[in-house]
Amino acid sequence: MRYIRIPLYIMTFFLFLLTGFLTLYYGKETFHFDQKESIEAEAVNKEPKLHFVLIPEELENDYWRLVEQGARDAAKFHHVHLEYLGPKQANNDEHLKTIDMAIAGLVDGVITQGVAEPDFNTLVTKAKEKLIPVVTIDTDAPESDRAAYVGTDNYYSGFLAGKALLNDTKGEQKVAIITGRHEAPHQKLRVQGFKDAVAIEKRIEVVAVEESNITEIGAVEAAHRILQQHPKLTAFYGTSALDGIGIAKVVKNQKAEDDLYIIGFDILPETLQYIEEGTIEATVVQFPYQMGYEAVEKLIMLNNGEKLDPLQHTDTKVIHKEDLPISPASMNGGMQP
Ligand code: BGC
Repeated sequence: MRYIRIPLYIMTFFLFLLTGFLTLYYGKETFHFDQKESIEAEAVNKEPKLHFVLIPEELENDYWRLVEQGARDAAKFHHVHLEYLGPKQANNDEHLKTIDMAIAGLVDGVITQGVAEPDFNTLVTKAKEKLIPVVTIDTDAPESDRAAYVGTDNYYSGFLAGKALLNDTKGEQKVAIITGRHEAPHQKLRVQGFKDAVAIEKRIEVVAVEESNITEIGAVEAAHRILQQHPKLTAFYGTSALDGIGIAKVVKNQKAEDDLYIIGFDILPETLQYIEEGTIEATVVQFPYQMGYEAVEKLIMLNNGEKLDPLQHTDTKVIHKEDLPISPASMNGGMQP
């Protein structure tokens, strides 16, 4: 019996060793494989392959924050690394420096507001030479080497504002325009479009064009000055997002809501509130969220070597009190944030 048991023990021992070895070996192989595969999957699905920079006119501006939000949502969806960099307050030199830094950092694409300066064009050409596509947003720079423009047709939006004033008013009108910055090309287009639209009726006279430096306080100061110089004024047109709000504050303060017609730009919450209560009569709608979202997608397409129509206009229209409330989805140009 003893002689039979010993080989049995030995066999069991070797079987034990073999099973242990096989478990370890295949276990390790299986685990190793799984781990490798999951890292690869992560690299394919999650790791951002492209790096873009979005450069606004002014970082903290509420309008640009909406552009940023659209761009961030698109970047998240497409696994792109996005940086939002630029001047704290509107400043062309700082804006151009930021573009230069992005080019030096060899990013995969730049989204920037167009700037009407020869140095801007030089930088965009430099980017193109380094195969970095540039998409202008909100304001175009058609003379530059930018690959595409995503944003409002600014002349047309100004023209719509002029037509709205014609439709909404009767009799002689003395109009003052408060514009973001005199030198900004999109602001010039919004002023020109408006002037061209109202020029068809003699009853409309534009008596002043002043700038706000795209700040609410700038618009408040300009509105005060204008009302002192033109006590017979009947209407205001504000061409950038905070101008209408600044004008409305002054007009309300002077209890002149019933005497003055105001048309503004953009649909920031405060503007909509002033429309709701009747201080602002109308506003020109832009879709900053959609601009940001689409600009990121256009840069991805350009990185994939796709050809694009250089003019990618987002929608624009005028709204009045009867169009309120507007749904969040329609504020984003039909896109859900
Ligand atoms: C313009 C932007 C500008 C913003 C200022 C918007 O209407 O499209 O270019 O920076 O107003 O608040």
